Amino acid sequence: MGEEQQHTHEHEHEHQGMHPSFMRVIQQKQRVKQKLSNIKHKIGVYSAKGGVGKTTIAINLAFALKEKGFKVGLLDADIDCPNVTMFLGMENEKMEPRLPLVPVEKNGVKVASTAMLVDEMKRPIIWRGPIIVKMLGDFFENTDWGELDYLICDLNPGTSDAPLTIMQVLDLDGFVIVTTPQRIAGINATRSGMMAKRLGVPVLGVVENMSDGKPSESTEDVVAALGTQMLGTVKNDKLISEMSDKGRIHVLENTAIKVQFQAIVDKLQE
Ligand SMILES: Nc1ncnc2c1ncn2[C@@H]1O[C@H](COP(=O)(O)OP(=O)(O)OP(=O)(O)O)[C@@H](O)[C@H]1O
Ligand SMILES: [Mg+2]
Repeated sequence: MGEEQQHTHEHEHEHQGMHPSFMRVIQQKQRVKQKLSNIKHKIGVYSAKGGVGKTTIAINLAFALKEKGFKVGLLDADIDCPNVTMFLGMENEKMEPRLPLVPVEKNGVKVASTAMLVDEMKRPIIWRGPIIVKMLGDFFENTDWGELDYLICDLNPGTSDAPLTIMQVLDLDGFVIVTTPQRIAGINATRSGMMAKRLGVPVLGVVENMSDGKPSESTEDVVAALGTQMLGTVKNDKLISEMSDKGRIHVLENTAIKVQFQAIVDKLQE
């Protein structure tokens, strides 16, 4: 019997008497953990509120880390609206449809997205919860990242099936919570952080995006409520959306933006 097989049987024994669906989650988590065991740090970028800049932050954190000399992967786990490939000008890039799935490299960062598996990017992906859970689990389990220092994971908004699955299955080191200066964003950011903590995923810190450079009162409240640290701010800048629309990567092309992300990455590494 192979070592891995024996391992599975041991765990089966350990969880005897448990509800089968619960056992499946645990077993899948173990398989994903094994598959991602050559990755030193796995960090999710999350907020329950849509449009606050999760994808923008995730992409720029990944490239800022790459610029510091680390081996980096970027996982687009937003299965409903996988935007990473669009922001990176990779709409036409596909992963070879065979197992294991191999991420596609962009300027030295390995990128994997479910968008790279479908033929027509703009066709909406409409799946119910159980399919999403299955699909995401399969995707994580079958993607071969090789050795990485960091895997940055972009999540979709909300607190339902997809983020929940990621929190349960992906074994992240923690989350970077993204908010904007508005009170409503802060309230939702706190909610997001609370959910993560309840599921046992640490909160690594908070980024205020679309900022004027000084964290708002509401953002300070988020940091206090989650008992975490402020990682930094990213200024509200029309150039950010203009560049995203053209598939240009901010930290690789704009020094003022790069400085802001380098500061966040430095804080994150502390
Ligand atoms: N600091 C900023 N200044 C100006 N525009 C920004 C900034 N950050 C993000 N944007 C723009 O705001 C829009 C939403 O950003 P993004 O897609 O990153 O948010 P999101 O939280 O990932 O959204 P979703 O919830 O849909 O996944 C994009 O057009 C993006 O270019
Ligand atoms: Mg997004």
